[in-house]
Amino acid sequence: MQNDLELKIDELLSRMTLREKVGQLVQVSAPIDGAGKERLKNRVRNGSVGSVILAFSSTAGNDAQRDTEVEVYNELQRVAVEESRMGIPVIFGRDVIHGHRTVMPIPLASAGSFNPELVEECYTCVAKEAANDGVQWAFSPMVDVCHDPRWGRIIEGPGEDPYLASVMSRAIVKGFQGEDYSQKDRIAACVKHYLGYGASEGGRDYHRTELSDYSLYNLILPPFRAAVDAGVATVMSSFNDINGQPVTSSKKYLTDILRGYLGFNGFVVSDWAALANLRRQGVAETEAECAAMALRAGLDMDMVDDYYFNHLAALVNSGEVPEALVDNAVRNVLRVKLSKGLFENPYTRKGEYDRGQHLRKAYELAAESMVLLKNDNHILPLAKTAKIALAGPLKQERRALLGSWVLDGKEEETQHFYEALQNALGGCEGTVICNTDDLADDAAEKVFAQSDVIVLALGESHLVSGERHSLADIALTEHQVSLARRAHNTGKPVIGVVFCGRPLALQIAEPYLDAILCAWHCGSETAAVAADLLLGDLVPSGKTAITFLKTTGHIPLYYNATSGALANNGYYGQHPEDCYLDIPAQPMYPFGYGLSYTRFTCSPIHCEKTDMTWQELKAGACFRLSVTLCNTGAYDGKETVQLYIRDKVASVMRPIRELKAFQKVFLSAGDHCRIDFSVGYDQLGFYRENGEYVVEPGAFEIYIGDNCLTDNCLSIQINP
Ligand code: NOJ
Repeated sequence: MQNDLELKIDELLSRMTLREKVGQLVQVSAPIDGAGKERLKNRVRNGSVGSVILAFSSTAGNDAQRDTEVEVYNELQRVAVEESRMGIPVIFGRDVIHGHRTVMPIPLASAGSFNPELVEECYTCVAKEAANDGVQWAFSPMVDVCHDPRWGRIIEGPGEDPYLASVMSRAIVKGFQGEDYSQKDRIAACVKHYLGYGASEGGRDYHRTELSDYSLYNLILPPFRAAVDAGVATVMSSFNDINGQPVTSSKKYLTDILRGYLGFNGFVVSDWAALANLRRQGVAETEAECAAMALRAGLDMDMVDDYYFNHLAALVNSGEVPEALVDNAVRNVLRVKLSKGLFENPYTRKGEYDRGQHLRKAYELAAESMVLLKNDNHILPLAKTAKIALAGPLKQERRALLGSWVLDGKEEETQHFYEALQNALGGCEGTVICNTDDLADDAAEKVFAQSDVIVLALGESHLVSGERHSLADIALTEHQVSLARRAHNTGKPVIGVVFCGRPLALQIAEPYLDAILCAWHCGSETAAVAADLLLGDLVPSGKTAITFLKTTGHIPLYYNATSGALANNGYYGQHPEDCYLDIPAQPMYPFGYGLSYTRFTCSPIHCEKTDMTWQELKAGACFRLSVTLCNTGAYDGKETVQLYIRDKVASVMRPIRELKAFQKVFLSAGDHCRIDFSVGYDQLGFYRENGEYVVEPGAFEIYIGDNCLTDNCLSIQINP
């Protein structure tokens, strides 16, 4: 089968002219109407277009985009298939980042669901909707592990942990592609941004990165490896440089590591006009040089700047670039087009799908993604008889709640939070009184006075996150803090519902809030889910996929750091004096943290055999660990039991905690269950600077609990 595919590629390649080959490596963005449409048709007819990106500006995630237009795409495809000499179909790609018509939670939130099965199901729905609208290829998942919440694009990624990122990466690729992405409702995925983009200095977008090979292999590469292992069709290279080497022109990253080391065999597309950036980045002078460098590095398809289109043929004809390199890139593109089944089914035939089911999935995922950060005196859930005063800048927002990077979701199809609270209270005695003007002197206080409890819809707009939308300060705004203070001064309980795209620094507001629900930007069902959580129709089970900091000055602060030289346990948890004089060292909320309305207790760790030899481990033996989890509270609920390791002494400093496994389980009130984990060779090692995976004998600590700071610990030993 695989052989047939390669034979078909050989056959096509043997009949293609150089110009046609180069055409396969060209992606255009085109206003598909008027004169633009005719120009594009001509290019397609000439065999000069391999792909069309259905985005019309460089920062598609924050700009209004045109709706998808299936008839127009089919017409263009007809020209490619029937009127071009080779009849090779184009592939249509779009930024389907965390939803299509139905918008799922931003990936930073959904990673915190710790529920990869549900994430996969949700992206299966997304694939179906996008495919139905003519999208054959999604520029997702974005799996940039990131330690800097100033970076606006942190919303698009899986947070700070490479293991969780890998699990989510696989789930999203599988959700888009299924087992076979030639199926009608499946689309090709594109893992991005390869590589190191999330480590951009200072959280500034498109900025430089300084990255050791050790961090690269252990922290940044794992989710890309997971995507490749899951069969991802394509990879998007990143804008940034790594240690002064732009990834766009780096053979080390695009060929040696991606193909040689990870075994990727799809195609690599550049990011938007990234070849042109090589001149700005100061590694090339002319357009032709940029094109030659990118092709030599292993970049197959050029997104929108036409450098390949304008220069590759001449570079081959002059002997500067061997035609074999072009052939190789074309092979990679054709492999994906054939695997997508475009030659048999080039057109989109619109069908039906069950929108209601997709919205129900979006609701479920939002319900498992929102994180209850604080709940003093069990103030939540609220009684449905409560008189609720509602204030805060996000109380009647629709668009913000969808999140950045939404091209096809419609805000008019969503509820805002005020509506959602009213709907959730429908038929009950409770009421919501909404303050219309938080800024007016005593307007809020008047509304507060009539209530039993105050709910503040806080957070940030989608326009302060996403691409090219970084912030220098991640604290909740002063206006919102002052609103929280005013609410608190009434003496009534105050609930903060924080709709956000990044872990906002909540230290100043926190003392004024009795409860805090981080509702994120959770897509189409954000408001409904936040209301149902507040009123107890849902029980929270989301966890933080990223550390919540006290202030911006904490950056970078992440759980899986190594120890400081003097602090045995590093600066994350236990040793405040080794950090800053002016702020406490500990984060506001650690990684993996999230409360429930019910209470879970976890037993000490049980393990029959706590030592084994390195040979036994290498041969496949595992440490078999178990805990008993009890739901001792009054609600049915879900808990994520997390397993971390610490390699006590190694040839290189290892993190104080590393997530290696987790299980999310449902338990009825009063119920308990045993949870088993196997920890073996694949969990206990790390990558050396050359990418070699090693497990070193010695002592390890295993931690099992409800967040990364659990002290439920057991020592195990690998004997030499
Ligand atoms: C630039 C972004 O970096 C990338 O993520 C996106 O897929 C492309 N633009 C296309 O819109």
